[in-house]
Amino acid sequence: MVGVSHAYGSTPVLNNISLTVPAGELVCLLGPSGCGKTTLLRVAAGLERLQAGSVTINETIVADRKSQLPPEDRRIGFMFQDYALFPHLSVLDNVTFGLFREAKAAARERAMEILGQVGMARYADQHPHMLSGGQQQRVALARALAPKPRLVLLDEPFSGLDTEMRARIREETLSVLKQTNVATLMVTHDPEEAMFMADRIKVMGENGRILQAGRPADIYYRPASEYVARLFGPINMFDGVVDKGELKSSFGALTATGVADGHAVRVLIRPEGLILSNGDGHEGGTPVDILSAHLLGDSSMVRFQVREGANRGAEFQVRIPGAFDLTEKGQIWAHVDPRHVFHYPQE
Ligand SMILES: Nc1ncnc2c1ncn2[C@@H]1O[C@H](COP(=O)(O)OP(=O)(O)O)[C@@H](O)[C@H]1O
Ligand SMILES: [Mg+2]
Repeated sequence: MVGVSHAYGSTPVLNNISLTVPAGELVCLLGPSGCGKTTLLRVAAGLERLQAGSVTINETIVADRKSQLPPEDRRIGFMFQDYALFPHLSVLDNVTFGLFREAKAAARERAMEILGQVGMARYADQHPHMLSGGQQQRVALARALAPKPRLVLLDEPFSGLDTEMRARIREETLSVLKQTNVATLMVTHDPEEAMFMADRIKVMGENGRILQAGRPADIYYRPASEYVARLFGPINMFDGVVDKGELKSSFGALTATGVADGHAVRVLIRPEGLILSNGDGHEGGTPVDILSAHLLGDSSMVRFQVREGANRGAEFQVRIPGAFDLTEKGQIWAHVDPRHVFHYPQE
């Protein structure tokens, strides 16, 4: 997809989007609700008329200024939000539906093969309402993959499932997609889902532009902007001025490479980028007062106030594994893990 822009009437939605999805890879577009993710998939699929740019699938141009192939000629498989199976058709008939070009026996054979792959062969004769949400999801995946598409489009495919089911279905879906070696373009607003599923993530902003592209670790450890750094939830923040390539903080001098001396920067520190300790070995740390501690399950969120130095009086939150049990043990110190500290020049 090269240079795709799209507007509804006079309202621009997509702004010059270019992306490539290699075979066997899953590319995930991550962006807030309303930023144009579904529109992008609809343009790729041919459900929305292309307005600018071009779409190429498997080295064939399927849409450009001159001509546009209809959806059914693009060799695309879909799995959309409401993976709507046909309620009046059996599982098997749902899956053979997309195989209308094949002879009946061949279509049936292919459908059973792909149903086997997603672990649903024994439900072939049942109707969708008899299946759990997770099972319906697997049938929807089988239906999408049955015609051996070159490209699979997934639109927030797991948003209808509860947490436990979601984790399992994600994993199964990923494994089936990898086995089939198909190119997959998925969209979601859920950063964790994107991190879990994607080989590559494209972060999309509200303006319908791609703000950053990279592997999941790049997006998490090297966010290119404050916006991207904030995608993963609440984050600690303070502002400062760079002096000799460094920035003073209560946690010691933070390196501020690439920013001129005297320039204002915003510092962001993830909650998992702060470490609490007591007793020895607190060099480079700063004494803090604990304000609150909440156990969230496998981790706790702890709020503290800094006692000394450049951030004196400022509040921070830290996520620690397990329960917080340092309160009875004297002075507590906070350190930073530099991998979770980001700085961005301010205008
Ligand atoms: N058919 C349409 N006609 C007019 N506006 C639309 C249409 N579809 C979507 N929009 C608008 O375009 C924007 C992007 O929508 P969409 O692509 O569904 O975003 P997302 O999937 O990221 O939530 C939204 O503001 C939405 O209201
Ligand atoms: Mg959408």
